[in-house]
Amino acid sequence: MTNAPADSGLFEPARLGPLHLPNRLVMAPLTRNRAAADGVPEPIMATYYAQRASAGLIIAEATTPNAVGQTYPHIPAIHGEEHVAGWRRVTDAVRAEGGRMFLQLQHGGRVGHPDNSGLTPVAPSPVPLPETIHTPTGRQAAVVPREMTLADIETTVADFAAAARNAVEAGFEGVEVHAANGHLLHQFLAANTNHRTDAYGGPVAHRIRFVVEVVRAVAAAIGPERVGLRVSPGNTVNGIAEGNTGDIYPALVAALADSGLAYLHLVFADPDQPLFQELRAAWPGTLIANPALGRGGPLPRDGGRQAGERLIAAGADLIALGRAFLANPDLVERLRTGAPLNQVRDAYAMYTGGATGYTDYPTLADALVAQTN
Ligand SMILES: Cc1cc2nc3c(=O)[nH]c(=O)nc-3n(C[C@H](O)[C@H](O)[C@H](O)COP(=O)(O)O)c2cc1C
Repeated sequence: MTNAPADSGLFEPARLGPLHLPNRLVMAPLTRNRAAADGVPEPIMATYYAQRASAGLIIAEATTPNAVGQTYPHIPAIHGEEHVAGWRRVTDAVRAEGGRMFLQLQHGGRVGHPDNSGLTPVAPSPVPLPETIHTPTGRQAAVVPREMTLADIETTVADFAAAARNAVEAGFEGVEVHAANGHLLHQFLAANTNHRTDAYGGPVAHRIRFVVEVVRAVAAAIGPERVGLRVSPGNTVNGIAEGNTGDIYPALVAALADSGLAYLHLVFADPDQPLFQELRAAWPGTLIANPALGRGGPLPRDGGRQAGERLIAAGADLIALGRAFLANPDLVERLRTGAPLNQVRDAYAMYTGGATGYTDYPTLADALVAQTN
């Protein structure tokens, strides 16, 4: 049984550092490949995000902090002035609609290809992605990444900090450091992608070091209250086998617990899992939980509302939803009123470009106009 709309904690206001959020629903970061080939956000991205400005917080899609970190074609970037100017159009459009945004910073590590970035991907160890990867000429076998030197590590930490400064200049309220879903930071955490024997590999205390350094550098650059961290304990996407999930995340959370960060963001959060409860208890700040809705299976009819309410009851502060926001620009209103949801079309329309499957999902008001015409 669902709660009556007025009973749900999802629609109560919340604070996030200095920000006032009108509700507890967060739009999860969703890669949509609508940037220009050079990573500059296209004007249609401003329309897409402005349509979704009623979210309590939007976390904008994975965005590249340096050239070698680019994953796929048409991913936005934030390392040049042209990127800052492009994103400024997006944040202005969202702010004009009353919304607020963080930007997710993603370095792909071994999830990349020379045909996408022009460079050989770098990673903690020369272990290739055991999958093909999307390129402008179709899917290709992944290449063996170059093992990062200590100088590469230092430069990459600095690139994240510079990208965060750029994001603030572009009008974002803050950034989310992406340590989830098999990208570079996750590759440092996981045993099967990190074979290093120096201070960044081996025991868990070493494998968390790079993530901690990136987060601390970004926090020093723009203020910890503007920085979130996304992690996905146990997620095997992009060929990840963490080894000791139950040790990695408690160690990471303990290392960052006193940093004053804006939030910790957990992917596939399940209130019945002991690790969820352990991390909630250990994290003193805001916890954003992205519910495990059947791990990529079809969206439940309520878009994740009941799962979100269970997580709030279990101690989460904010609830992130991905596909439900993708298909429903007015998701907050639909969930509040119990209105039916649009379903996701066209396998996310990721590499198609343009408005179809992107900005053409109707709001309730659009649907009403269509009915009366
Ligand atoms: C089309 C698509 C793009 C995604 N892009 C990102 C991304 O850029 N960064 C990220 O951390 N997760 C990404 N994800 C994962 C989502 O943020 C989210 O964790 C996942 O979809 C599960 O939430 P949901 O069931 O509410 O959709 C993506 C998911 C989808 C479906």
